[in-house]
Amino acid sequence: MKTYNLAIIPGDGTGPEVMVEAVKVLKAAADKFGFNCALTDYDFGGERYMKTGETLTDSGLDELRQQDAILLGAIGHPDVKPGILEKGILLKVRFALDQYINLRPVKLYPGVETPLKDKGPEQIDYVVVRENSGGIYTGLGGIAMKGTAHEVAVQSMVYNRFQVERCLRFAFDYARKHGKKAQGKGDENTLGLVGKTNVLTYVYDLWERAFHEIGEADFKGVRRDYYHVDATCMWMVKSPEWFDVLVTGNMFGDIITDLGAITQGGMGIAAGGNINPEGVSMFEPIGGSAPKYTGKGVINPLAAICAMAMMLETLGENEAAEKVEDAVKGVTGTKLKSLAAGAMGYSTSEVGDLVAEQLVR
Ligand code: IPM
Ligand code: MN
Repeated sequence: MKTYNLAIIPGDGTGPEVMVEAVKVLKAAADKFGFNCALTDYDFGGERYMKTGETLTDSGLDELRQQDAILLGAIGHPDVKPGILEKGILLKVRFALDQYINLRPVKLYPGVETPLKDKGPEQIDYVVVRENSGGIYTGLGGIAMKGTAHEVAVQSMVYNRFQVERCLRFAFDYARKHGKKAQGKGDENTLGLVGKTNVLTYVYDLWERAFHEIGEADFKGVRRDYYHVDATCMWMVKSPEWFDVLVTGNMFGDIITDLGAITQGGMGIAAGGNINPEGVSMFEPIGGSAPKYTGKGVINPLAAICAMAMMLETLGENEAAEKVEDAVKGVTGTKLKSLAAGAMGYSTSEVGDLVAEQLVR
């Protein structure tokens, strides 16, 4: 029997609560589909930082490198200045393990309410491939004459051809394998590049040229679309059914996936994977640590469970991944009153139980 070595980082706020449920469902899946998991817990997060001043330690990072995958709850603590934990833990793992893809499905499950009028699961069903290793997140820049009337701050959007190309190749390949045609839901697999070529005439010019060159040379079967990022926001609300697979840089990807998340029912359900296709990947619910709900047992664990399902897929446990997703759909479709914290009609752990029960049934 196969054994997967998995790191569990529950993190801050409601992270630990949702992680318990994700692990519950993981164990049920392992029993049912015949694999083992060796779990190692790591206490990186705000509490440890406040006690020791440590964020992610070098030795911790070395241990993470040895794992098959990482499951993360949430990072962010109300008593720690913004940026310290995010940069010191979350972004540090993404960068150090070169998780250069952030895969964020925007999928409305049955029974889930969306703020988009007259749209349902048929219309809200696409995936955003967010570049996860560069762009403004590189952190290149600085501030001078700080605190004076002349202070100046620069934070640069930096991309090299290598980063852009590997991201585009992943996205094209993903569209070919998982696009609407591949799923039997349409007659084309489409990759849409989201950029801003009318203003960011250097960075998104590089993206656009690489997009067409690579598509033309190696992915002829994938249709190519281009959208400006501002217009993308509009179409995500008005005509989400246009989209299949979207690819974009780090900052735009961050922003549009929060918009996408709310259209699929909010932070209670939205999951993502920080993927290094050749290395160790990390999966997380994309909502934050939700301090105001911490310890109340009311937070929705489905996003963490969906992140765990994405992890299973990346590990190659496709059937288990699919069945966990089906179980989640069963629970949203027939059980939960709402996906919002405190309004589900069930507690956090009851929702985990419901998914586990559906799965083993
Ligand atoms: C996300 C988050 C992070 C990001 C923050 C917490 C650093 O917003 O995963 O989308 O900006 O990538
Ligand atoms: Mn974000």
